[in-house]
Amino acid sequence: MKIPKLQIGNITADIPIVQGGMGVRVSLSSLASAVAKEGGIGTISSIGLGDIEAAKQAYERISREALEREIRKAKRASNGNIAVNFMGVLSNVNDLIKTAIREGIKMIVYGAGLPVKLPGLIEDRSINLVPMVSSARVAEFILRTWNKRYERIPDAIILEGPLAGGHLGFSEEQLDQPEKYSLDNLLPEILETIKPYEDRYGKKIPVIAAGGIFDGKDIARMLTLGASGVQIATRFVCTVECDVSQEFKQSYLDAKEEDIVIIKSPVGMPGRAIQNKFLDDLEIKGKLKIKCPYRCLTACKVSEARYCIAQALINSYFGDVDHGLIFCGQNAYRIDRIVTVKELISDLLAELEAA
Ligand SMILES: Cc1cc2nc3c(=O)[nH]c(=O)nc-3n(C[C@H](O)[C@H](O)[C@H](O)COP(=O)(O)O)c2cc1C
Repeated sequence: MKIPKLQIGNITADIPIVQGGMGVRVSLSSLASAVAKEGGIGTISSIGLGDIEAAKQAYERISREALEREIRKAKRASNGNIAVNFMGVLSNVNDLIKTAIREGIKMIVYGAGLPVKLPGLIEDRSINLVPMVSSARVAEFILRTWNKRYERIPDAIILEGPLAGGHLGFSEEQLDQPEKYSLDNLLPEILETIKPYEDRYGKKIPVIAAGGIFDGKDIARMLTLGASGVQIATRFVCTVECDVSQEFKQSYLDAKEEDIVIIKSPVGMPGRAIQNKFLDDLEIKGKLKIKCPYRCLTACKVSEARYCIAQALINSYFGDVDHGLIFCGQNAYRIDRIVTVKELISDLLAELEAA
């Protein structure tokens, strides 16, 4: 298959691969710039950044300054396409979005929450707005609302299926029916849903398929089904350039299929992670001690939460995986080595061409 470019609004990527944003601190400037250099779109995750002690006193300012630093570093390292990922459940999400725009970011990816008011926050129409959804129903809601309120449609939509990593936009019952909610089934539905809006606005809304994309054959299948590109996260964890600790990467290499589990997150959504000592301890104790200096999540009820997810993810970032949560996609167990981003992308493209 010929490798198509990926056009999102005024952004052109030479290859149809977006590296998915990964919090906390898994995809920062090092990974995102390496992907951008190879012609893909590299995504910085905006959550949980900055000095932890300092953030206890001034969470919003410390987060903002740390995001500024990551964006500047990524831009110094590559003049390719850099996006930033935001989660709607963050208490400071609007401040972070404004920061990214001030720093010249041209693609805003918004997941874990409905971006109903996003176009109102960003008046500059040269900035590409890309919601992440898990169903045609949610895509339709966003399209209808933006059309009515702002006379605007998204510049692309990321469709994240049930095999993805991190928080998932599916109920546990839906996750028990992976076939019914597979990307192969969801993709045609969403393409159908966006069609009337594409016709009305006279422009294409590229759909980017995400969740469980492992090799070039998977990419080819998604492109054949009508996706304009794919978003891949899990495979980028086991790269030299990925920003997270070696211990985190090693957990992927050691994981077996049966170690990959669905957890309940204090964010209020299910998530996918590797069963480890941290999750074993949580099962035994039922609840871990929480100190919450940040109030980072709007949806987190501190008195009811079983653990602090920000702390658990930061522990893993630093390498203390026994006290940390390790998010991963369903296919993490298939990864058997650490490679450079260049090697990974050239393998994916060779497989795509051969498919
Ligand atoms: C370690 C990890 C952390 C993630 N964190 C986020 C996040 O903070 N925000 C988000 O929107 N998606 C997050 N995701 C989802 C990815 O961006 C991506 O859409 C998804 O994992 C794609 O599936 P794949 O991992 O099978 O390639 C995360 C995924 C992983 C593996």
